[in-house]
Amino acid sequence: MEFFELLRKRRSIRRFKDEKIPRKIVELILKAAFLSPSSHNRRPWYFIVIDDREKLDLLSKAKPGANPLASAPLAIAIVGDPEKSDVWLEDCSIVAEHIHLATFPVGLGSVWIQIMNRKSFDGRDAEEYVREVLNVPKNLRVPFIIAIGFPAEEKKPHGKEVEEWWKVFHNEFGVAYGRGEESRESPRPKG
Ligand SMILES: Cc1cc2nc3c(=O)[nH]c(=O)nc-3n(C[C@H](O)[C@H](O)[C@H](O)COP(=O)(O)O)c2cc1C
Repeated sequence: MEFFELLRKRRSIRRFKDEKIPRKIVELILKAAFLSPSSHNRRPWYFIVIDDREKLDLLSKAKPGANPLASAPLAIAIVGDPEKSDVWLEDCSIVAEHIHLATFPVGLGSVWIQIMNRKSFDGRDAEEYVREVLNVPKNLRVPFIIAIGFPAEEKKPHGKEVEEWWKVFHNEFGVAYGRGEESRESPRPKG
């Protein structure tokens, strides 16, 4: 899949078929993660590959919006180490996006499940809940989980609607970038 086609076709997939993902494909996705950049190349991350149905079901109850994990046959939790880098969250975000993107060329779909800074249904900290389910040591963080599976829903690729040219400035904030066709096509929405 060509890179820009991948970017257009990437959508958040939240419903998955009940079909196991071959280990070779899981490893390919992890290889995409290993290729991620990081500040000072510190690579302040760990990955937990979760395919245990009971654990996935428990994780799907971590917070509102974690329900895609209930049908996902696989999830990869990103575990960050703040002691390794002061920009561990940036590094972990990029690695998570590598994983999310890598699922599409191999025929899978995926969605980012935010855990950090979210509350679980009973008002508990969602990260604490996930930490317990996955037995993650206290000094490490679990900012997000990527739910992965064969798509059971179809979504249109993104088109022009995402092109917010009005948010692009030239040399200083507030000065519109370009007067070309593209910027005329996407005026700032009202309201
Ligand atoms: C930081 C971040 C947190 C997100 N958290 C969730 C989440 O907890 N649950 C969920 O279903 N989708 C989550 N998403 C997916 C977004 O809702 C989705 O990317 C957005 O609506 C745009 O849709 P698209 O990914 O199909 O382009 C998250 C995405 C990002 C980048």
